[in-house]
Amino acid sequence: MLLMMLGMASFSMERFRESLGIGKVLKLQKYDILLIFAALNPIVMIFYFSGCGNSKHVAETIAAGLYDTLVFIPEAARENHYEYELTEGERLGFVFPIYSWAPPKLVLDFVKKMQLKAKPDYLYFVCTCGDNCGLTEKVFRKAIEEKGWHLSACFSVQMPETYIGMPGFKLDTEKNAQLKIDRADDTMMRNIPRLIDNECFSEIVKGSLPWLKTYLVNPGFNKYATDDSKYRVDLKKCTSCGRCMYVCPVQNIKMPQGEPVWLGHCIMCMACYHQCRSNAIQYGKATVGKGQYYFGKTLRWK
Ligand SMILES: Cc1cc2nc3c(=O)[nH]c(=O)nc-3n(C[C@H](O)[C@H](O)[C@H](O)COP(=O)(O)O)c2cc1C
Ligand code: SF4
Ligand code: SF4
Repeated sequence: MLLMMLGMASFSMERFRESLGIGKVLKLQKYDILLIFAALNPIVMIFYFSGCGNSKHVAETIAAGLYDTLVFIPEAARENHYEYELTEGERLGFVFPIYSWAPPKLVLDFVKKMQLKAKPDYLYFVCTCGDNCGLTEKVFRKAIEEKGWHLSACFSVQMPETYIGMPGFKLDTEKNAQLKIDRADDTMMRNIPRLIDNECFSEIVKGSLPWLKTYLVNPGFNKYATDDSKYRVDLKKCTSCGRCMYVCPVQNIKMPQGEPVWLGHCIMCMACYHQCRSNAIQYGKATVGKGQYYFGKTLRWK
C-alpha cells in the first residue's frame, strides 16, 4: 500500500514537473516532501457535484493530487448522509459547476444540512464555469459561515460550456473546448500544491455586473428556467436504453412505458440531453441543432 502511494506520488510529480518547469529544483524538492506527506496522510475529503463531467474531472484531478476521498453530493443527499467525521487538522473541499452565476441550489442545500464532528482547519472550493462566476464566492462563504466554518481558499476554472437551454446559448467549438480543458489542467497543477500547503487565496473570475447576475438573474433562473416540462423525446429516435434515467443526478426521470418522463424536480444540469446517444431529447426548440457535450467529447448533429 505504502509503495503504491509513493508510486502515485512520483506519477503526480511528473505532472508537477511538467507544469512547474525543470529549472525550479528547490521548489520541486519541497513539493516532493509535501506529496509524500500527503500520500501518507489521506485525511482529506472532497464533496463534489457534476452534471456533464467537467467538475467530475476537476474533482478527480484534485483528489489524485491530494490523495482525497470523493463524495458525490447527490448520492450522499439521496442516502440522507449528512454527518461526517473530520479528524483534527483535516481539510475539506467542495467542487461544483456554476449555475447562473452561483453554486447550484443542490450544493447549498447539502452544505446547510451537513454536520461535522470537528471544525475544518482548511476549507476550500473549486468551481467550474463556461465563462464567469459572478459573486459565487460571497454566496458560498455566507453558506459556510452560517455553519461556523471559515473559507480559506477558492478558485474557478473555465471549462467547456454545457448550458444551451435558451436561445443564444451554444456549445464551445471542439477546439475551444479542448483549449479550456488544457488551461484548466494547468490551473489545477498550479493550485494543487497551494492546497497541500494550506495557502489562503481567492482566484474567482467574477465577470461583469456580478451583483446583478448573482442576486437578480440567479433567483429568476432557479424559479423559471428549471422547468422540465419543456423536455420532449423523439420516439422515432429513442431506443429505450434508459441512459437518460440513469445519468440524472436527482432521479428526475422515470420510464414507466419505456420512454422517459420528467418528474418536475429538475435542476437543469442538462445531463439527460447531452448523454442521450441517439440525440432523441430536446429542450423546447432551444437545443435543436446545437450538438451535445460530455466531458472532453463534443458531438455535432445535422
Ligand atoms: C444550468 C446551467 C447554468 C450555467 N450557468 C453558468 C453561468 O452562470 N456562468 C458560466 O460561466 N457558466 C455557466 N454554466 C456552464 C457550466 O458552469 C460549466 O459548463 C460547467 O463546467 C459544467 O460543469 P459540469 O460538467 O460538472 O456539470 C451553466 C451550466 C448550466 C447547465
Ligand atoms: S437516453 Fe435517449 S435513447 Fe435512451 S431512453 Fe433516454 S431518450 Fe431514449
Ligand atoms: S432531468 Fe435532465 S436536466 Fe434535469 S436534473 Fe435530470 S439529468 Fe439534469
